[in-house]
Amino acid sequence: MAQLALHGGPTTKSKPFPAWPHYDEREERALLSVLHSHNWWRGAGQQTAQFERDFAAAHGAKHGIACTNGTHALEICIAALGIGQGDEVIVPNFTFVATASAVLSSGALPVLVDVSPKTYCLNVSEVEAAITPQTRAIITVHMGGCVDQIEELAALAARHDIALIEDCAHAHGSEWQGRRVGVFGIAGTFSFQQSKSMTAGEGGIIIINDDDFECRARSAHDCGRLPGEYFYEHFGYGSNYRLSEWQGAILGVQLERLEEQSAQRHQNARLLDDLLGELDGITPQTLPEGCTRDGHYAYIFHVETSAFAGAEVKEIITALNAEGIPTQDSYPPLHRLAMFATDAYRQRLGPQQADGNHEFMNAPFPGTERGAYETIWIPQYALLGDTQDMEEIGLALQKIQRRSAELGK
Ligand SMILES: Cc1ncc(COP(=O)(O)O)c(C=O)c1O
Repeated sequence: MAQLALHGGPTTKSKPFPAWPHYDEREERALLSVLHSHNWWRGAGQQTAQFERDFAAAHGAKHGIACTNGTHALEICIAALGIGQGDEVIVPNFTFVATASAVLSSGALPVLVDVSPKTYCLNVSEVEAAITPQTRAIITVHMGGCVDQIEELAALAARHDIALIEDCAHAHGSEWQGRRVGVFGIAGTFSFQQSKSMTAGEGGIIIINDDDFECRARSAHDCGRLPGEYFYEHFGYGSNYRLSEWQGAILGVQLERLEEQSAQRHQNARLLDDLLGELDGITPQTLPEGCTRDGHYAYIFHVETSAFAGAEVKEIITALNAEGIPTQDSYPPLHRLAMFATDAYRQRLGPQQADGNHEFMNAPFPGTERGAYETIWIPQYALLGDTQDMEEIGLALQKIQRRSAELGK
């Protein structure tokens, strides 16, 4: 077998993966139409409003509220639920910081809970054990696009009369039992930041079925206004979270590709399950039976380092990158971020909560630690490649495994 590319050998990858983001003359036309319309903002334009309707319909939801980004989508939901100081919101410890910082933005306490060591998503038993009289909501994250126990989580939330928000930043096109995500709780939030599976560089959307909640969320996203009312009347707390027409126009076109691209990511990921599953010490993220489509913001797999001569995960990643296989970093556990480890987060809380014990911080988080430090992530755009691209990912890992004694030298 050839030398590792890391040590001067030929790369396993023979051709580049497709570049991201995808675009063609449809995006160009959409942008020009905004330019020529003289309506560049949400207020008078039609493109963002049309995108909201189309995205919501594509997810089986009644309403869509486009907004500035996925973090703000969560903040708007928290504000519209009236969550604030003294309240608790359950979030996974294994996620991007926004899932927790959106809770802190309101002055409420994010309660960090461990995730499943197989799917890296919240599981019902851990969540149930974390519910207290102060709990107002659960935010679940479909990690990497994977949907797990979503109906059980919705039933749990309903039993306790608390809200369930789905953070779908990774899950464009993902489905549970044939239904697209985002509609199992009070709201589903999405991000359209550059790395996401649909993008306008930045952007976000909330999908909602409940009319009252939609009205409150729409108001919160537009400075506390109410549709149809005087422009300078503001009925409650809100800020300017509106999405521009440029982004709405681009996203309308990106949405046209969602079905085909998410089906392709799902299919290529199953091929990787077979190719990588054959290798010693590699365990792909579990696809739960009910997850009929995983939109795969990333392809995540666990690495048993003993099967790689004890090399560190980051050494395997460096070798993979040298072979021409892109990766993206996993998330550190939230409780280890400086914001939580140094108690900076307490500055956002009301006096009683700020002085609390927050015992949950000291729990062991085995699922989170496994996801954070022992997994490798292949980004979504690589899953838009062809069969040869998937085979080369498998071959690169095989080569690195065979020569793993040379890593770190
Ligand atoms: C799980 C999760 N939630 C929320 C967000 C926030 O989205 P945005 O970057 O659009 O603010 C992200 C973005 O990376 C994310 O990965």
